[in-house]
Amino acid sequence: MKLDVSYLSRTPLFEGVPPEGHEIAEQAFRTLSLRPGQAVFEAGDPGHALYLIRSGKVKISHRNLDGREKVLAYLNPDEIFGEMSLVDDEPRSATATAVEDTVIHALYLEEYWGLVRRFPQVAHNLARIIARRLREMNHEVEVLTFEEARGKVAYALLKLYRHRYGESTPRGRRMPLTHRELADLAGTSRETATRVLGQFQEIGLIVSGSRVLEVLDPAGLENVLYDL
Ligand code: CMP
Repeated sequence: MKLDVSYLSRTPLFEGVPPEGHEIAEQAFRTLSLRPGQAVFEAGDPGHALYLIRSGKVKISHRNLDGREKVLAYLNPDEIFGEMSLVDDEPRSATATAVEDTVIHALYLEEYWGLVRRFPQVAHNLARIIARRLREMNHEVEVLTFEEARGKVAYALLKLYRHRYGESTPRGRRMPLTHRELADLAGTSRETATRVLGQFQEIGLIVSGSRVLEVLDPAGLENVLYDL
């Protein structure tokens, strides 16, 4: 899948950048195709590029000392990742893995600086993307700190729903996800996640299968989260 100017002009990183900038950016990116399960990089690697997701899905995750995986996010087309190491020159803070067949466009440090020198709006857009992520993280810390299991599971489901994880169905959104994976996202045990999912299913918020969850009523999940 080729990178083209009309696509670039629609991405948040290039919002407000003049058309000339899109043409130069088109030359600056390199396109990579990934198979399901293929890692883009591992936590701790040195990092000199950011990536724009063109199609597919990327999991951002981390392993604890005991080897358990914590999924930080599932990222979708038009979202970027890898910007942290690009900006602060520290090692990669998490592992990025393709969940399905995925195409990404890589922008290396030198090309990034070339673009920023000519179009400072790109750096401002990147700062905005990072600020948005920080806001989301602050909200998440609040949920993980103060919410009971029902709120945590509702939040994790809503986060996936808002990031358009999985596929849309006539009833809602179907997400390929095990109870274990959801529990890791929500910061609860697998048993607790399964119990809460059972409750949500009973009141018609979701349908829970063994490796798939379907969200039927996101507004109902928000009511759970905000105790309405
Ligand atoms: P970097 O540290 O270079 O490599 C890992 C990337 O994962 C990081 O940049 C961010 O782009 C992304 N990332 C890290 N934490 C989160 C998070 N909580 N939500 C979404 N993306 C994240």
